[in-house]
This record gives sequence, C-alpha cells and structure tokens, in this order.
Amino acid sequence: MSAMLTRDDALDRDRADPLARWRDEFVIADPSLVYLDGNSLGMTPKRTIQRLQSVLADEWATDLIRSWDRWLDMPQRVGDRLAPMIGVGPGEVSVHDSTTINLYQLIDAACALRPDRSVIAVSGGDFPTDRYVVGGIAAARRMEVRDGFDRLDDVAVVVRSVVDYRTAELADVPGETARTTSAGALVVWDLSHAAGVLPVDLGGSGAQLAVGCTYKYLNGGPGSPAFSYVASALQASLPQPIWGWFAQSDQFEMGPTFRPHADIRRVLLGTPSILALAAADEGIGLSAVAGIEAIADKARALTEFGLALCDQLHLRSSTPRDAARRGGHVAVHHRDAKQLVARLAAGNVVTDYRDPDIVRFGCSPLTTRFSDVFDGIAALGALL
Ligand SMILES: Cc1ncc(COP(=O)(O)O)c(C=O)c1O
Repeated sequence: MSAMLTRDDALDRDRADPLARWRDEFVIADPSLVYLDGNSLGMTPKRTIQRLQSVLADEWATDLIRSWDRWLDMPQRVGDRLAPMIGVGPGEVSVHDSTTINLYQLIDAACALRPDRSVIAVSGGDFPTDRYVVGGIAAARRMEVRDGFDRLDDVAVVVRSVVDYRTAELADVPGETARTTSAGALVVWDLSHAAGVLPVDLGGSGAQLAVGCTYKYLNGGPGSPAFSYVASALQASLPQPIWGWFAQSDQFEMGPTFRPHADIRRVLLGTPSILALAAADEGIGLSAVAGIEAIADKARALTEFGLALCDQLHLRSSTPRDAARRGGHVAVHHRDAKQLVARLAAGNVVTDYRDPDIVRFGCSPLTTRFSDVFDGIAALGALL
C-alpha cells in the first residue's frame, strides 16, 4: 500500500473490484449518500421489491390460504440456502423468528442438556441482547452468570459472538468450540456480525448450536427473520423451551400432546412472517450467488484500506490488524464519537455510534465501495 492514500487510489480499487457489479442489484436512492452502516441494516435488493410485490399479488391476493402449500417449508428452504455460508449441511438451519428469541431457545435448551452444571458464561462486552437473555435464563433456572471464558469446568453453556460488534475482532471458532466442548460445556455461537461477510465453518469446528440475524450483511430487510442452527445429531433430542404448534410433528391434527419434530423444524414456534421470509430469501440468495469467499476477500480489502486510512489520519482503531482476525467493520475510537456520528450524518455519511466511544464504519462487500470507505474516513478526519 502506498505511503499516502488518495481518493484516486480508492477509485482504482473500485475499478479492479470483481464484486463491483453487485451494487447494481441494490436500490441506490441517493447516489451522493455514503452508506457505511450495512453492518446494521443492509441495503435494499431490487429483486426483493419485485419478490414482495409478487408474494402480495400472486400468492397472498390470488391464492390466499392455498399459498400455505408452498409457504409452510420456507423456514427450512431459506435455511438450506444459508447453510453453506456457515459451513453446515441441508436440514441444519431454519430461518425464523428473531435473534433474541432464537438465542433464548437454544441457550435454554443447552442448559437443559447440562443439568449437572450451574454456570452460563458470556462476555460482559457482548451484545446486550445476548447478555440479557443469559441473565434472564440464569434467573429463571437459578444459575450463575460468569463474565468470560477462562474457567469452564463448571460451565453448562458458553454464549459467544463470532465477530465482536464493537471491535470486529473475530473469535477462534474451531479452537474455542473444541476447548468448550472438551470442558464438558455446550457453546451457542452468535453469528449476527459474521453471517454474510465471512465464511464460518460451524460444522468443521464441531459447533452444535448457533443463531444469527439476516438484516445486516445478508440484506434481508428491517426485522427480517433470524436463523437457528442445530447440528443434525442434536436435533431429535433438543429440549427446546417454547412449545409452539409449528414444531409439532402432526401439526394439523391439533392433538392434546406436544410431540415435536425430530428434525430442524423442532425449533419453529408459530406462524412465520412470509413477507419477511421472502425478503430474507432474496438477500441471502444474493450473497449465496456472489459467493461467500469472494465477499470475505473484499471485506478484508475494504477493512485493510480503512485501517490504512485511519493510520494516515492518526485515528485510533481497535479493529485487529491481522485480516484473519477481523470481521467486516472498522471501529474508530474518539471521546466525542456520538457527536461525530451525528455530524457525519449531517454531511450525508451514515456510520453508527457504539457506546462508549466508537464510530463504526461498516464495510458490506456487495454494496460498499472503496471510495465510500475513503469518503467516510476522510470526512471523519476532516471533522477532527
Ligand atoms: C451480536 C448480536 N446479537 C443480536 C442482535 C440483535 O438481536 P435481534 O435481531 O433479536 O434484535 C444484534 C444486533 O445488532 C447483534 O449484533
């Protein structure tokens, strides 16, 4: 990388970018907008708008309830599309409900599988919903919450993010899964900041349980359904806590007794939002076709470029320099971060603020250009 990076360097990189054409698949309502928040809410795929119109007009309005014939297995079909990107097989992922609900289900089920242990371990720096759900389950089950993963001999369940939502640090999924498992605990991985920006080899790592959202790098739309991964070997015996009728093996017999499916449908709860699932399907489909390896290559290049710009402008970042250890955003620390994010937004540069002092620059490879990274970080530099 040259000593002084310029906007022309960014434009050169955009011209050489093998994924550049994918941006045309998205709605660009304001060409002057510098959007660096695809790690919170991905942009809108054009085909999602067509698909939703078709679900409304051709499916709901036309076929009415008969459409359930093709809607009923959508959580599994969309899950199968996502599965290769997270290193698992068909029939191991369901796209349904929210990350928070899915975390609750899988953490509680994992606790039930380790009845002789009384601790749930989570990092005090992890995303709030993960910590809160752990706290709630621990209170209900009279378990103890431990901050951190050093001691695991009495731990039932470890809850961890694959990519840290603040720093973008990537966890050692194979190493930590192996360490947790050999200590006799189960791990529930949260892929929210990893899915769709880098490949995760959950299957090869021996991970058995995971969740994640689809509205960030997977461009599924606001509030699009999350996913649950349960390894095939664990599915038939998963003691999931919420007994909804969509998990029931003879769902339409409406019988007196809950007898859940022995497969991934066991994690389903109630009627899924078909519109939201259709949107998630389109977003996931784009990433699947573009290819997760190519997406990850570009994420590494974008974040590397961003970090070099931070150095050039003397901005302090906690994002790992080692490309193999980071996800898809660059975190810049400044004591006035909150005000800076607001001032950037006033200049049509969308980033986000994370407590206590972080400006996050999200690099979403299907839509973010090197010139966006340049413009965003240069705008921050100019404010300082
Ligand atoms: C690591 C992580 N988990 C969970 C969530 C959100 O959960 P939910 O989709 O239920 O709002 C986020 C949202 O940013 C997140 O970053």
